[in-house]
Amino acid sequence: MGRLTIPDKLIELVREADSITVLTGAGVSAESGIPTFRDPKNGLFTNVNIEDLATPQGFRKDPKKVWEWYQMRREKVKLAKPNPGHLALVEMENRVRDFTLITQNVDGLHRIAGNKKIIELHGNIMKNKCFDCNQAVEEYESRGSIPPQCPYCGGLIRPAVVWFGEMLDEADIAEAESATRRCKIFFSIGTSSVVYPAAGLITIARHSGATVVEVNPNETPHSRYVDYVFRYPAGVFLPELVKAVWGT
Ligand code: OAD
Repeated sequence: MGRLTIPDKLIELVREADSITVLTGAGVSAESGIPTFRDPKNGLFTNVNIEDLATPQGFRKDPKKVWEWYQMRREKVKLAKPNPGHLALVEMENRVRDFTLITQNVDGLHRIAGNKKIIELHGNIMKNKCFDCNQAVEEYESRGSIPPQCPYCGGLIRPAVVWFGEMLDEADIAEAESATRRCKIFFSIGTSSVVYPAAGLITIARHSGATVVEVNPNETPHSRYVDYVFRYPAGVFLPELVKAVWGT
């Protein structure tokens, strides 16, 4: 990792932009100690079968295994704190009139950091809902059953996250697309950009004329099409950007 320089042109564009949209992925939380999904060594999806853990079929086949995998992840999330990358995005929201943060992360760290306008495209790992009746379930008695049972219909409780093969919330995706279409600058930060429809927002941003900036230590399928690429951790790049633009 060489010395980080941010082109003056980009600093000026960010300073003048009255509309900025940011898409984040697991990489933003990596520096808070939460593993990413596709890290070749320590990823949550390394050495496991995604179908078994993150699909409705997997839950139907072995609900206990899926529930326990999510409980393990919840324990990690509970210990995690926002890092300088998260905090820089709060500063950005405070400075920009029309700011939208679209996240694929389910860890809730952006909200804990202090961002307000957040679209949690893939849900929130701390929330639950019923696999059968789909009701949000806030409180339940586990009575020894794993997963616990729905207090309304007796079905199985599952985390309120989006699994492969499931639809995103329609209102969320509509709002995310609208924020992407109207922004002057679009940041894609810490995402491998291989999961759709989230990754498609990067293409929408480009086609809508936004300046598109990727922040990721590694290449993604979108890298070659964007306007600026910074091969840095989010917790390094974002505080530097905020300092360069607003002097804080
Ligand atoms: P991935 O694990 O696919 O990608 C994480 C990205 O973060 C990689 O491209 C890394 O290079 C990058 N990265 C690692 N450390 C970083 C750092 N400190 N700063 C910036 N970038 C860093 O995670 P996502 O792209 O979020 O969906 O995965 C997308 C979706 O796939 C997830 O939301 C999840 C998963 O299936 C659901 O659960 C529905």
